[in-house]
Amino acid sequence: MKHNSINVLILGSGGREHAIAWKIKQSPFLNKIFVAPGNSGTSNIATNINININNYNSIKNTILEHEIHIVIVGPEDPLVHGLHNMCKNDTDISNVTIIGPQKEGALLEGSKSFAKKFMQKNKIPTAKYEKFEAKNIRPAKSYLKKMPPPYVIKVDGLAAGKGVFICEDIKEANRVLEDLSVSSRFGEAGETIVIEEFLKGIEMSVFILTNGNSYKILPVAKDYKRIGENDTGLNTGGMGAVSPVPFMNQELLKKVETKIIQPTIKGLKKENISYIGFIFFGLINVEGEPYVIEYNVRLGDPETQVILPRIESDLLELFINIEKNSIFKNIPIKISELNAATIILSSGGYPEKYSKGHIVTGCDDVTESILFHAGLKAENNKHLTNGGRVLAVTSLHKKAKIAIQKCYSSIEKIHFKNVYFRRDIGKDIIK
Ligand code: AMP
Ligand code: GLY
Repeated sequence: MKHNSINVLILGSGGREHAIAWKIKQSPFLNKIFVAPGNSGTSNIATNINININNYNSIKNTILEHEIHIVIVGPEDPLVHGLHNMCKNDTDISNVTIIGPQKEGALLEGSKSFAKKFMQKNKIPTAKYEKFEAKNIRPAKSYLKKMPPPYVIKVDGLAAGKGVFICEDIKEANRVLEDLSVSSRFGEAGETIVIEEFLKGIEMSVFILTNGNSYKILPVAKDYKRIGENDTGLNTGGMGAVSPVPFMNQELLKKVETKIIQPTIKGLKKENISYIGFIFFGLINVEGEPYVIEYNVRLGDPETQVILPRIESDLLELFINIEKNSIFKNIPIKISELNAATIILSSGGYPEKYSKGHIVTGCDDVTESILFHAGLKAENNKHLTNGGRVLAVTSLHKKAKIAIQKCYSSIEKIHFKNVYFRRDIGKDIIK
């Protein structure tokens, strides 16, 4: 493999995709990098291509026109809808490496009931569960009666983080079930419902890169999903993250590897599901025992903004060789000892209604942190807010506490109308 020879296309437009582009950009093997549709951050380091990433023909044309060798799929939707399968079945582009599983593997994220059954079959620790049809909720209501509160109710399919309900009492839980039985807001995703036992513990995110045979464990992170401080208020895509996670010691990581990662890889093989890409294990640590809350078939956002800056190995080299197991398995993955933190600057009102188009100033004055753009666009040499999560401010330092402080000092320099961010990122686990 020659230096400056590989053309890469990244699909997506968030902080995660900016961070992936930033990392790939450092590889000597890279020739050209494209991001579709990208954002103002990716346009500084790559070529943005304004296409709909759920439109197969647009992606195919982009791959052919720019002679793309590797496609990295940021979000889950295109994977769940079979993008990888379509590329593999199309002789014009079947030799392109797609980082992200085919739709059979993407079911780990695309269907909660598939994922739960998979874990049960493969003895992977997870909360007890039962699945029900939304149109007939009587059995679901009787199941709830036998369980202690709080109650965890989930719609089966993709729901952009809005399909999980944690109810404190049975009345509220029954109300959620009744609503799901008549509401069509989740479409097909809501036709099946999963009810789970509630697990109490601290959550963490573990990521691997795998080709279905070998895997590399990437840095572990913790994200902060709720909008409000002390984990209160509505769920968001994520308001900040830290990596590493102090309570993830060698003993716990070993348990994650033997009880969760290895049985997942073996389970996929047993079912003849080939898998190229990332697996994101959303875990909960219940008194020293890891349980899987959910699988995702992609990297997390904003976890990516803290894990990629800690990977010292060349990620592009791993992607180039991912389909050649004998090479892939022998490439070591080197992880920095530094601590990373990222804090999301969001538009006030997010995750509900918020306004866009406000001028963002001060980004150029930030020297101590890396800024990953998300809902931000450039117009007439100005930066304008263009989404709920606007920017991720990432810092690194030997000491976790100082990495976090560096983020907050950088944030002081950035201004836009109605800016909101959490002031307690990392506070619960970093002393
Ligand atoms: P999910 O979309 O499945 O990751 O669920 C969203 C969030 O709901 C998780 O990050 C947890 O905070 C919470 N959650 C989901 N399932 C459970 C469970 N069985 N026990 C406790 N909390 C849960
Ligand atoms: N930060 C959680 C996710 O990307 O799903």
